[in-house]
Amino acid sequence: MATEQTLSIVKPSAVAANHIGGILHKLEQVGLKIIAAKMIHLTLEQAEEFYGVHRERPFFPELIDLMVSGPILVQVLEGEDAVKVNRDVMGATDPTEAAPETIRAIYGKNISENAVHGSDAPETAAREIAFFFDQNTIFPR
Ligand code: CMP
Repeated sequence: MATEQTLSIVKPSAVAANHIGGILHKLEQVGLKIIAAKMIHLTLEQAEEFYGVHRERPFFPELIDLMVSGPILVQVLEGEDAVKVNRDVMGATDPTEAAPETIRAIYGKNISENAVHGSDAPETAAREIAFFFDQNTIFPR
């Protein structure tokens, strides 16, 4: 298994609910290392570009509204098979379908306010990491 990097976002609803610490603890508990992190408030343009792949989906306007509703915590995670490990600990997109003890099962409110985003594949991770972070602000261990 290769060491990978993946992008993780604690979404506005989870930041507002004071769940940053609980979520980062879950990530570290499964062995993921936080090698970059920052809090930002996305502009409309940034949110629309980041989620551009969903532009034609019916949920796009609500997704963008929610993602610009408050600050987010973006992180780069590193570890063996990090993309899959992160997706497993996040749980299914819809918190009602997420396995017990996963981040979305614990901290998600509904499919739109599902606490976290995580890259879905290594290629997506590379693009998403570059969207938020300069290479010299990432600290691989
Ligand atoms: P995320 O991993 O951030 O990627 C796109 C987001 O769209 C997803 O998590 C959900 O929060 C949101 N979303 C809202 N409705 C849906 C839906 N019906 N199917 C998939 N994603 C949805």
